[in-house]
Amino acid sequence: MLRDLRLRDFRCFPELVFEPAPGLNFLAGPNAHGKTSVLEAVCILLRLQSPRANSLAEAVRFDQPGFGLDGHWGERHMHMKFTDALKHFALDSKPQSRSADYLAVARVVWISNDDLQLVRGSGSPRRRYLDFLGAQVVPNYLRQLRVYERALRSRNALLKDNRPRREIAAFDSSLHEAGGFLLQARAAMCADLRNSARESCRRISGGGEALEMAYLPGSPADFAAALENSRDEEIRLRTTVVGPHRDDIAIRLGGREAVSFASEGQQRSVVLALKLAQAGRLEQSADDPPVYLIDDVFGELDPTRRNNLLKALPPGAQKLITATSLDWLVEEDEAALFSVGGGVVAKKK
Ligand SMILES: Nc1ncnc2c1ncn2[C@@H]1O[C@H](COP(=O)(O)OP(=O)(O)O)[C@@H](O)[C@H]1O
Ligand SMILES: [Mg+2]
Repeated sequence: MLRDLRLRDFRCFPELVFEPAPGLNFLAGPNAHGKTSVLEAVCILLRLQSPRANSLAEAVRFDQPGFGLDGHWGERHMHMKFTDALKHFALDSKPQSRSADYLAVARVVWISNDDLQLVRGSGSPRRRYLDFLGAQVVPNYLRQLRVYERALRSRNALLKDNRPRREIAAFDSSLHEAGGFLLQARAAMCADLRNSARESCRRISGGGEALEMAYLPGSPADFAAALENSRDEEIRLRTTVVGPHRDDIAIRLGGREAVSFASEGQQRSVVLALKLAQAGRLEQSADDPPVYLIDDVFGELDPTRRNNLLKALPPGAQKLITATSLDWLVEEDEAALFSVGGGVVAKKK
C-alpha cells in the first residue's frame, strides 16, 4: 500500500504531503481544488504515466521547470521527477536507468467518469484500456508497443508522401513482429477478462442483462500476409490499413451493442465492470493488490450501484476515492476521510 506521498510543483500544488490509510480513503472537496491531481500524482509516482494527460509536461505547475513526486509503497521508497521533458526515477534512493524494476513495485487501477469513453468513444480508449493492463502484466508489452508505434508512424509518413514501395517495406518486419506480439497479447488479455467482466457487471447492476466483451483484432491471424494483401489499399488510402492500431473490443449487453442500446446507468455499470475485471487480472499477476484510484465516480452513481461497487471492491486493497461531497456516505467505520482545498489535504477522521 501507499504509505505517504509528497508533491512538489505538481498541478495546483507548490508542495503537498498526503498520508493515506490502508483501506478506504475518501477525499472530498469542491471542484478545481486538486482532488484529481492528487490521484494523478499517485498514478504517476507508481506507474510513471498519467491517466489523464498525454504528456507529463501538462502536470508541471504553471511557470515551473518541473515537478517532483516522492513516497513509500510498503517498505519501498519511490521517487520520480520530471524536468526538461525527461523522467528521472529512483528506487530506494538508487537512480534507475531502466523502468522495469521500478514498475515492478506497484500496480494501479484508475476509474473515472472519463471511462465512459470505453463504451461511447472510438476504438482508441479501448486499446488504451488493454495497453494499460498489458504494460502491467505482460513482460515486454510496453517495449513492443513502442516499437510498433514507431514503425507505424514512419511507415505512414512514407505512404502519405507516396514514397517508393521498397522504402515502405523497410518497416514491414518490425511492424509485423511487434504487431504480431500485440495481437496475441491483447487476444489473451480479452479472453482472461471476459468472464470476470460479466460477473462484475452482474454484481454492480444487481443482475440484469449479461455483459459480453470480445476482442476484434485489427488484422487477420496471419498479420504478415494481411499486410502483403493490403498493399493496393494502403497506397490508395496512404496509410497502413491492417494491424493492432485498428484493434477494438466489442461490448454487448444482453446481446445488443452497449453503445447504442444501453442506458447511461447501464453504461456506467459496464465501464465499472471492465475496470474491475482489469483489477482482478492485476491481482492475479502479483502478490499484493493494486491501489484503486476512483475519481468522481461515486457522486454520479445511484445509491444501489454505489453500494454494489463499494462491496465489489476487494476488502484487502487500498482505495482512494474522490467526490465533491460525501453526503451520500453511510457511516463507514473503517474509512479515512480527507478534505482537499486551500492547497492541503487535511485528515478529518
Ligand atoms: N499545470 C498546472 N499548474 C497549475 N495549476 C493547474 C495545472 N493544471 C491544472 N491546474 C489547476 O489545478 C486545479 C485543480 O485541478 P483538479 O485536480 O482537476 O481539481 P478537482 O479534481 O478537485 O476538480 C484547477 O484549478 C486547475 O486549473
Ligand atoms: Mg476532478
